[in-house]
Formats: sequence, C-alpha cells, structure tokens
Amino acid sequence: MKEDRDCLLEVRNLNTFYIEEESIFTSKKRKKQVCKDVSFTIKRGEILGLLGESGSGKTTLVKAVLGITKEYTGEIALNCTQPQMIFQDPYGSLNPAKKILWILEEPLRVQKKHDSESRKKKAYEMLAKVGLDDKIADRYPHELSGGQRQRVCIAMALMLEPELLIADEPVSALDVTIQAQIIRLLLELQRDMNLAILFISHDLRVIYQMCERVMVMQDGRIVEEGDVISLFQNPQNPYTIQLMEAAGIR
Ligand SMILES: Nc1ncnc2c1ncn2[C@@H]1O[C@H](COP(=O)(O)OP(=O)(O)O)[C@@H](O)[C@H]1O
Ligand SMILES: [Mg+2]
Repeated sequence: MKEDRDCLLEVRNLNTFYIEEESIFTSKKRKKQVCKDVSFTIKRGEILGLLGESGSGKTTLVKAVLGITKEYTGEIALNCTQPQMIFQDPYGSLNPAKKILWILEEPLRVQKKHDSESRKKKAYEMLAKVGLDDKIADRYPHELSGGQRQRVCIAMALMLEPELLIADEPVSALDVTIQAQIIRLLLELQRDMNLAILFISHDLRVIYQMCERVMVMQDGRIVEEGDVISLFQNPQNPYTIQLMEAAGIR
C-alpha cells in the first residue's frame, strides 16, 4: 500500500472488548464485544462525523484510538501528533481549583519545552482564537458560563497545535443557541488551522451542521457512511432512517 501522508488516522477491522465479571457470585470473566469490524480513515483537514445512539460504542471507539482501551484486535495507525480531545462536560475537564490561565498553560508545562513567558503568550493567543476576552484568564472555571467553559476546553486542546481533534459529544450539554456558536467556532478553527476533526454526536442536526462525511454506528458496527448531504437526503440503512424519523427529519 502506498503511504498517504495526508491520512492522519486509519482504523482497520477494529474489534474492541471489555472484560466483565460473569456474575457477582463467581470470579469467572467474560469478554463483551463493543466495536465490531470498524474501518475508516480521516484525512488532514477533514471533518468526519460519527453518529449513533447512546450506548452504540462511539466513546469506546475513541478510547481504542487513544490507546486507553487495550483489548482490541485490528489495526489503528496514527500518522500524526497525539490527537487532542474535547468532551461533553466542559466543567468535568477543567481543574476547579485553578484559574483559566494556569489551566491553559498546563499542557505546555507538562511538555517542559516552553518557558513561562512563551506559555503565557500562547495561552492568551488561544483565548483570542476561541473568542474569549483576556479577562477570562484570571477567572476560575465556576465563574464562566457553559459555553465559555467549552471554549476554554477547545483552547486547551489547541495549545499543543494538534493535527487531529476528537470531539466526543462536545455540544450535547449546551443550549441550542450556544451549540450553534460552538459549532461555528469549530468550523472556523478547522478552516484556519487545517484541523482534522472526528466529531461525535447522537444528534443528526448537529452532525449535519458540522460534518462533510458521516458514519452511522449501530450496536458497535458502522452500518452506513457517506457524504452528509446525500446520506441524509437518501438514507439506505433502516437504522439511519429510524434515527431520522425519531428526530422528526423524515
Ligand atoms: N468500562 C466499561 N466496561 C464494560 N462495559 C462498558 C464500559 N464502558 C462502556 N461500556 C459499554 O459499552 C457499550 C458502548 O458504550 P459507549 O462506547 O460509552 O457508547 P456511546 O459513547 O456511543 O454512548 C455500552 O453497552 C456500555 O455499557
Ligand atoms: Mg459516549
């Protein structure tokens, strides 16, 4: 196979497993499979959606890609710097005891490659990039709104200049108007920085606004994929049709 330098992530025939106790009365273990024969690629600068109901295996897929889940078969080839994450709950991902400037500097502090002055400069630069005022730097997470907190999380994810961002339900906890602002911001950043984004959501409307290409996951399997507009205009899989009907789109 010719190596494609623009292919940042290639997942081939991925199967993931959790090891569970068979029952509380025995110590027998059982393997539970979640992701089933999942294959896809993400190219530089591309936004790929992953759509599926709660419990379908979306987060499990992310854990395998990030190396958190080790029980898997298949291939995961990461051809870029460590992907950065944005989560559903921005409050949970911010240290409540630290001010925003400290929080933003932390990824660089861990790397030990930057002095205090350059960390600070970069933190203010990223705050501006995500549309937040300098004053935010001196606040604690609880002194921000949900939307502002998610912007801080995005800024934090960008501190290390990733090539690939993984956003796991990043707007699911936000009001619809704030959702729209965050989606607009992510789209701007993607264009500006030529970011690739794996964008995960259970919400078809959000996927439609955000993505070029989408994969539909049901019970750990990709049951349909394609470019968003044609897939939503002409869904082939019964599950996709069912999701659209449930969302009142068909
Ligand atoms: N640590 C774990 N141990 C066992 N089962 C798990 C674990 N984490 C998730 N699961 C199960 O894996 C399935 C997929 O979960 P998840 O990947 O979180 O779905 P999604 O992100 O699509 O909501 C669910 O049945 C869930 O209960
Ligand atoms: Mg999840």
